[in-house]
Amino acid sequence: MRKPMRILVTAGPTREFIDPVRFITNLSTGNMGYAIANVARKRNHKVTLISGPVNLNPPKYIRIIDVISAEDMSIQTRKHFKKADCLIMSAAVCDFRPNKAKAGKIKKANIGTLPLVQNPDILLWAGRNKAKRLIVGFCMETEHLIKRARQKLREKNADIIVANKIDKHNMPFGNNPTRVFILEKDGGIQKIGPEKKEEIAKALLDKIESVWYKKTAA
Ligand code: CTP
Repeated sequence: MRKPMRILVTAGPTREFIDPVRFITNLSTGNMGYAIANVARKRNHKVTLISGPVNLNPPKYIRIIDVISAEDMSIQTRKHFKKADCLIMSAAVCDFRPNKAKAGKIKKANIGTLPLVQNPDILLWAGRNKAKRLIVGFCMETEHLIKRARQKLREKNADIIVANKIDKHNMPFGNNPTRVFILEKDGGIQKIGPEKKEEIAKALLDKIESVWYKKTAA
């Protein structure tokens, strides 16, 4: 029997607070990451899910760690990465945050400007520290999808990138059926969908298992 994998999944958006009541975020619902976590669990893998704020039921029999901001997600991912065979970064991490969240609510008379700073790039860090682990990233683009996905594979030292195009035919948020391309380091590319997220999760897990068990058998 194959040894189950230890899979760390990140899901959902992050929130970057401007003041105590306002934040920057994105359209992610967490559906993709939760579907991946559920499918992986059903296949007997040991799953840890790091989740941004979502309106989804926590999956059963999965260790879930709730986070809010990209910085929290980065801290928790680094912590749990040590005990993982594979990291799947399906979270839509906000690339930037306000320089400093204001302690009091900003009044409309004092809007001013909002200086932003870059958040830690978790996938980049994971790629640099991967050792024998398998690193899976996502890529969402409005143009030059495949070219940019290949670039991300290389630059972030990932093994697999799941590429999503955003346009009027493909809005990959929520429960919408989605079309994705699964790109591998060796140049392989597989088109999936339009399909429900669960089917995409199954195809992705098939790919991850095939790469992992080939690698660990060698
Ligand atoms: N990601 C991450 N840390 C961030 C931003 C993104 O780990 N601070 C991960 C996402 O989880 C995803 C991948 O990086 O797996 C791609 O994210 P994306 O925002 O499409 O690309 P970026 O590398 O941030 O580059 P850009 O926004 O410039 O296209």
